[in-house]
Amino acid sequence: MSTGLHRLEAIAKAYAVAAVQADKEGRYEDAIKNYRKAIEVLHKIVALYPTIPLAGLYRKLIREYEERVEQLERLKLPAANASSEEAGGDEDWIVTKKPSITFADIADLYQAKRAIIESIVYPVKRPDLFPLGWPRGILLFGPPGCGKTMLAAAVANEVDGVFMHVDAASIMSKWLGEAEKKVKRLFEKARRIASEGKPAIIFIDEVDALLGVYEHEVGGEIRVRNQFLKEMDGLQDKSSKIHVYVIAATNKPWRLDEPFIRRFQKRIYIPPPDFNARLELFKLYTKGLKLADDVDLRKLAEMTEGYSGSDIKDIVMEAHLRTVRELFEKTGGEGEPRPITMQDFLEALRNRRPSITKDMIKAYEAWYSKFGAV
Ligand SMILES: Nc1ncnc2c1ncn2[C@@H]1O[C@H](COP(=O)(O)OP(=O)(O)O)[C@@H](O)[C@H]1O
Ligand SMILES: [Mg+2]
Repeated sequence: MSTGLHRLEAIAKAYAVAAVQADKEGRYEDAIKNYRKAIEVLHKIVALYPTIPLAGLYRKLIREYEERVEQLERLKLPAANASSEEAGGDEDWIVTKKPSITFADIADLYQAKRAIIESIVYPVKRPDLFPLGWPRGILLFGPPGCGKTMLAAAVANEVDGVFMHVDAASIMSKWLGEAEKKVKRLFEKARRIASEGKPAIIFIDEVDALLGVYEHEVGGEIRVRNQFLKEMDGLQDKSSKIHVYVIAATNKPWRLDEPFIRRFQKRIYIPPPDFNARLELFKLYTKGLKLADDVDLRKLAEMTEGYSGSDIKDIVMEAHLRTVRELFEKTGGEGEPRPITMQDFLEALRNRRPSITKDMIKAYEAWYSKFGAV
């Protein structure tokens, strides 16, 4: 029995190796054929020997090969591929929903808002006032939870544009060449949108992942990066009047290399909230809530150095939750919760450490003094 197993495993492996080889060389038909054979044999193995230790791995491989066959089917038919793209069919890793966030929902960050307005909103409205061109790449960097993603989303609302939200991690693919193609298709789609008259804003969150380590392939990340740089250079073409912008965000700017950084003419630091910003955040997030008279938001803002906007939102939510919890415990959920007291906030604060350290801030400021460009 086990020789039968070994034989099947050897056959599956031979097909898989042939498939991957063909895939690498761009012979999609061959790749598909061999992946299918490998899938068939793997199916046979797990049906005949469901309890062997490798059965789990084989099932996983089946799923992966099936997924790849599907992708290759699309790649191999450029015409069909293009039309499904037009329908927005298979680009589910690009989110083009228009966000509802506006600049008014974002506490503080006035400098960043102004920089964004000047580099995107004005050129979109009056390109004639920018005969020397204008930046197409904007990098937002700073500690997590301080509003980078929010800012990018708000831009799309300010210019009546199409917001294309992508996670860098979802561009990266373990399949050879796939990630580069995704970068290419992303920019193609943006140019198509822009050529129809709407500004297209590509937002790449956690952009450092584009340069990140590639598990399955040596050198893959370099090609993705190069493809990305090439696309960025294309946007910069002086004669081009179409409005495609790339906003990238990262918590780890030091992972980016110089050529990459250079493509983003604007580099904007999104700092942790200072006293005034924290006060604004507390006001913003307690706006709809009932507060007791003893609540001192200024005091809370003083006490929360090192806390991010996201931390502060969590603290307010936790303080509020304490009153809701109490209501349920006392009445089973009847009536209204009591007002939130200073004590609720202090308890919520006690259970939550600040997420931004002095060392982190130093690192961002050091990077900023070297590469910042507002
Ligand atoms: N300046 C801010 N104004 C209002 N809310 C904020 C601000 N900064 C952070 N937040 C809150 O924290 C959450 C995370 O912010 P986000 O923009 O995703 O941070 P980042 O992208 O910098 O990691 C937001 O959804 C929002 O609830
Ligand atoms: Mg974010």
